[in-house]
Amino acid sequence: MRYVEVGGARMSVIGLGTWQFGSREWGYGSEYAERDAVDITQRALDLGINLLDTAEIYAFGRSERIVGRAIKDRRTDAFVATKVFPIFPLAPIVEQRARASAARLGVDQIDLYQVHWPNPVVPLATTMQGMAHLVEKGTVRHVGVSNFGLGQWKSAERMLGGPVLTNQVQYSLVTRKPERDLLPYAAAEGRVVIAYSPLAQGFLSGRYDGTNTPGGVRAGNAMFLPGNIEKAKPLLDALRAVAAAHDATPAQIALAWVIRRPNVVAIPGASSVAQLEKNVAAAEIELTDDEDARLTETSDAFNPTTGLNAVPHLLRARLRR
Ligand SMILES: NC(=O)c1ccc[n+]([C@@H]2O[C@H](COP(=O)([O-])OP(=O)(O)OC[C@H]3O[C@@H](n4cnc5c(N)ncnc54)[C@H](OP(=O)(O)O)[C@@H]3O)[C@@H](O)[C@H]2O)c1
Repeated sequence: MRYVEVGGARMSVIGLGTWQFGSREWGYGSEYAERDAVDITQRALDLGINLLDTAEIYAFGRSERIVGRAIKDRRTDAFVATKVFPIFPLAPIVEQRARASAARLGVDQIDLYQVHWPNPVVPLATTMQGMAHLVEKGTVRHVGVSNFGLGQWKSAERMLGGPVLTNQVQYSLVTRKPERDLLPYAAAEGRVVIAYSPLAQGFLSGRYDGTNTPGGVRAGNAMFLPGNIEKAKPLLDALRAVAAAHDATPAQIALAWVIRRPNVVAIPGASSVAQLEKNVAAAEIELTDDEDARLTETSDAFNPTTGLNAVPHLLRARLRR
């Protein structure tokens, strides 16, 4: 495993996303929540992953509890990241919520506490004041944000009076916006971009097609529309070709591409221990400059139907289910 070390933190370039743990919207069932999720987390730690990403909102605290169970006897192996869901993120509320998350996780200190989304109404200054208190008291080691633009990230730093170490954003071969300004900022200033949905929720595995698309939360993900799967054929073919050269899978190549960027770590979720093991192995894959360029150029040419344009297609797909 490779690690990114900045600002006194050390994070594995492949982490583990745990939104899936106990969440109805992923539909993995009770056996997954009760047994597999703990096995996945412990195997992740065995294989050198230390970055575990959860949030108070995931399965309404259940994901944090599962992570807590998995790390119970090996706290020092884990770099635990969780998030405050920013409904009324006033300083005292942020502090109270951090303590509640720490209790569910069974830890004295949260390694990375992130603001899950910017709140358009509550001033960021009060949220960051709460964060600063948490750091002073030792409840939190590092502060992060999520889904913040560059201007918001910098404002958060001014209000905190120090570095906001990470910004967790959607980043993959099909979602490249963070390259415009977040990645350059992280690389230049010693910050980290945590890439969520690095496999585009499994889309980049290439296992889904027009006749086999996932349900649950992914039924609302425009990427899985048959038209987009068709448009993605050149990209998925490029992933397959590069994968063949490395005796790897398309999903592994998609992850290797993300973590080739400086100061970027990825936090794929996993539906099985086998997937987790593949994701860990992706950290060892060294893409050549030519392979990287081929994937990047094919990604540039991919023009999926998204946003409002995708809504009628998603509604039609839902009616057909
Ligand atoms: N901050 C935020 O707002 C935010 C938003 C979303 C996610 N996140 C975080 O980011 C994490 C990851 O994002 P995500 O779960 O949305 O998407 P993702 O990591 O891109 O996709 C995860 C899904 O891909 C499939 N998969 C994983 N490894 C695979 C492999 N090796 N081969 C083939 N398929 C594989 C699995 O689904 P199947 O096997 O069922 O296909 C798995 O559930 C979340 O768990 C969460 O911690 C944060």
